[in-house]
Amino acid sequence: MQAVLEVSDLYISYRGSKMGVPPEWAVKDLNLKVREGEAFGFLGPNGAGKTTTMNVLLGFLPPTSGTAYLFGVDVRRPIARQRIGYLPEQTYYYRFLSAVELLRFYAGIFRIPRGETEARIARVLRLVDLEDAGDRAIRTYSKGMQQRVGLAQALINEPDLLILDEPTSGLDPLGRMKVREIIRRLKEEGKTVFFSSHELGEVETVCDRVVIMHRGELKAEGTVQELVSAYAGNLEKAFLEIIGSGV
Ligand SMILES: Nc1ncnc2c1ncn2[C@@H]1O[C@H](COP(=O)(O)OP(=O)(O)OP(=O)(O)O)[C@@H](O)[C@H]1O
Ligand SMILES: [Mg+2]
Repeated sequence: MQAVLEVSDLYISYRGSKMGVPPEWAVKDLNLKVREGEAFGFLGPNGAGKTTTMNVLLGFLPPTSGTAYLFGVDVRRPIARQRIGYLPEQTYYYRFLSAVELLRFYAGIFRIPRGETEARIARVLRLVDLEDAGDRAIRTYSKGMQQRVGLAQALINEPDLLILDEPTSGLDPLGRMKVREIIRRLKEEGKTVFFSSHELGEVETVCDRVVIMHRGELKAEGTVQELVSAYAGNLEKAFLEIIGSGV
């Protein structure tokens, strides 16, 4: 089966190499394969290279070397992102727009037929629990509400692959639970979810497979169960041991 997301021998440096100075790798020799329908957790401490890798998948940053493919299409081609929904680490939306206006704008970008747009917007706002606030300006939203607008935006084109950079950051426990439910529901619909997170407990409950990155390198990979049994205990213990801070 073709991988939905495939990264091979990927190296990413933010600075071009200078004469005689070896490059600093934000991501080093990364290989990843995410299969259709998986919820895949992309883990690692601050600075591990998660956002950097996603930036390459989204075409914001070129790979220094190596390749990345989405649905078999090289990420350097914009068409690779046609079936993707993306939640950035930090959302910067035009604050004077309401969520409904913002989503109409994105619906236009994705060329969603006019006749379908309003129903689509209502559906994603319901999914992220913002139906009552949809007509208010985003500047009046709390942090968690802004995060959920981002999630609604990522879902508006009914993507087959979601790339979510810390989807639960800033959410309260109820909000986090709702995001877990959304991820589960998307999985049930056969969609693939590739997401980064620092909330290991929640990763444990929703992910089929995880990788743990540290300083740009992949340090461990497997099902949650495999990692937990290899490193005794729970995912948090496994995580701390893998990044070398085992207690
Ligand atoms: N715009 C940039 N210019 C230069 N270096 C950068 C830039 N963005 C990230 N880096 C560096 O790349 C490395 C990986 O950072 P990245 O943001 O990908 O980590 P992360 O895993 O997403 O961390 P976090 O959990 O804090 O979001 C870090 O060493 C960071 O300092
Ligand atoms: Mg990040």
